[in-house]
Amino acid sequence: MAALIELKHLKKYFPTSKGALHAVDDVSFSIEEGTTLGVVGESGCGKSTLGRTIIHLHESTDGQIIYRGKDMC
Ligand SMILES: Nc1ncnc2c1ncn2[C@@H]1O[C@H](COP(=O)(O)OP(=O)(O)OP(=O)(O)O)[C@@H](O)[C@H]1O
Ligand SMILES: [Mg+2]
Repeated sequence: MAALIELKHLKKYFPTSKGALHAVDDVSFSIEEGTTLGVVGESGCGKSTLGRTIIHLHESTDGQIIYRGKDMC
């Protein structure tokens, strides 16, 4: 079955006065339709930024977000 959504090497870096903050750094996975994926990690590891980048509240720094076969980046 084709993936509903696929991430390939997704990155989101925030500029800071000390350089780039790598909030999401090279995340790849795919989710099949009708399934779920949990994201677990310590506070500040980038879970919310990952979600926000997937739904384009943030512009990705690099990588691909493919939804129903269409590249959304
Ligand atoms: N808009 C932003 N500008 C700059 N840095 C940000 C921004 N949003 C998040 N960050 C930084 O990116 C990193 C990841 O934050 P994020 O909120 O994605 O973590 P989280 O895993 O969702 O944490 P929590 O479990 O506390 O919700 C943190 O270092 C955070 O300070
Ligand atoms: Mg969060």
